[in-house]
Amino acid sequence: GVTSSQPYEEFLQCLEFHDSNITSIVYTRANSSFSSLLESSIRNPRFDTSATPKPLLIFTPRQISHIESAIRCSRAHRIQIRVRSGGHDYEGLSYSTISPSLTFLVLDLRNLRAIQVDVPSKTAWAQAGATLGELYYAIAAESRTLAFPAGMWPTVGLGGHISGGGYGSLLRKHGIAADNVVDAQVVDVEGRILDRASMGEDLFWAIRGGGGNTFGIVVAWKLSLVSVPPTVTLFTASRTAQHKGIELFHRWQHVVDKLPDDLIVMASVVLNSVANPVQANATTIQASFNSLYLGGIEGLIPMMDAKFPDLGLRRENCVEMSWAKSILYFAGFPLNSPLESLLDRTISATGSAKFKGKSDYVKEPIPISGFEGIWEKLKEVGVQTGGLILASYGGKMSEIPESSIPFPHRAGNIYQVEEVAFWVEDGVEAADGYLNWLRGLYEYMTPYVSKNPREAYANYRDLDIGRNGGGGEGDYRRARSWGSSYYKNNFDRLVRVKTAVDPANFFRNEQSIPPLSSWR
Ligand code: FDA
Repeated sequence: GVTSSQPYEEFLQCLEFHDSNITSIVYTRANSSFSSLLESSIRNPRFDTSATPKPLLIFTPRQISHIESAIRCSRAHRIQIRVRSGGHDYEGLSYSTISPSLTFLVLDLRNLRAIQVDVPSKTAWAQAGATLGELYYAIAAESRTLAFPAGMWPTVGLGGHISGGGYGSLLRKHGIAADNVVDAQVVDVEGRILDRASMGEDLFWAIRGGGGNTFGIVVAWKLSLVSVPPTVTLFTASRTAQHKGIELFHRWQHVVDKLPDDLIVMASVVLNSVANPVQANATTIQASFNSLYLGGIEGLIPMMDAKFPDLGLRRENCVEMSWAKSILYFAGFPLNSPLESLLDRTISATGSAKFKGKSDYVKEPIPISGFEGIWEKLKEVGVQTGGLILASYGGKMSEIPESSIPFPHRAGNIYQVEEVAFWVEDGVEAADGYLNWLRGLYEYMTPYVSKNPREAYANYRDLDIGRNGGGGEGDYRRARSWGSSYYKNNFDRLVRVKTAVDPANFFRNEQSIPPLSSWR
């Protein structure tokens, strides 16, 4: 993007006026480490090209007063703020924008990642720049029988993840991450530092799932930890024969949401044409079932025999470990990996592959013929890797009311679907091919998924379902369409909270909740 030096110089002068030592945490484009800092937590290489709009500068606060100064000076000099914690935003909105002319800075919370676990009260204060892996490691260091019910990839940041919900292998037993937040520290648009008592219950409700970069900057969360047994059991079962895969999926849908909540069986069906580089055109469609059971093998085998015998689970397919290690198992680490692997911020889920995800919710089992069509879609030429990743609901998820927090996908859902495509080729043309394929798969799913609204998961951000203007200028009526997909009937309350706490819409992006004053 083209930017005059003016806003940046005035902004820096403003910062220095508030704190003379602040320049050491500001990285401009002229700084030799600007690019590596920017790229170090770009988690979707789709938004790491020379054409991707870049920030004017990156600001890496070391203390809360730095955040207050950044907000004050950004407002004064009309520079938009994009907050980044872990950088996993599916559409890259924490470090980029669809609007090439936008002047913005990245407020990167990487240095604010302290975690304090308090075993007696079963709580932890964790700063937003910490990763899930750092949180799980800190909990495991204190206790083998405590855990936190959040996502399954270690480098995901607590800031964005909890702001959008956050689910993982414990969702059937304990709900999602945002359900288990009991307090928070937030800096609002006026630069005030608020906790639950001072922000009030409306704002505290909104930040637990109503989307990031909207209501303020979350500096820390107070988390309610949950008890887990010292040993849990995991298994992965895969099938490549089409009829077997389809049969199992069909059966899976009829049992998964009704299993005891100590057991979750997730599933995926993925076409993989890169797994076998020797035979360039060899593709396999693999149906897999991944499971976590909160107990030992002795308890799991009879339960699976009774509830899902078709899978034919045998004890040699199962492995026992601590809950913290199960995160490494799901992330694909070798079985003997040390727990310290959870702290590695350099691991990448997709390598150099770019990706796009979309999401859906299934309330009625998909018929066999529906699955046959999915398999046909997966076989379409040109798709490098893609497919469906399914997370089963029921259990605790069905007990929590839809209005409890902004995340509304509760009773009545059998499972959540993520439609994904991954590719390594560069360029717009290649990307368009994969994006079109994915949109075709999404179109195909229409009759089988939720309607009015077609629900979607806010943390699998998808700008195809609608967005604000390029600079984040929102319009209530337009936003209502994508907003009700993410938040259902909670959308209007989110708009009311936004209107109360940030009426001028300072915190915004292409999919932030607009204030009501933006009704035009
Ligand atoms: P990032 O820093 O990009 O932030 C995301 C959004 O929140 C942006 O709009 C950002 O501005 C805003 N934001 C960030 N920090 C903030 C703060 N402190 N205060 C206010 N706003 C803030 N999801 C899931 O539920 N379960 C899972 O297992 C996984 N696994 C997974 C794996 C991989 C490889 C990816 C790429 C993504 C996932 N996700 C997931 C999705 C993930 O939950 C989602 O992308 C989160 O928003 C990521 O949070 P980060 O802080 O990492 O992202």
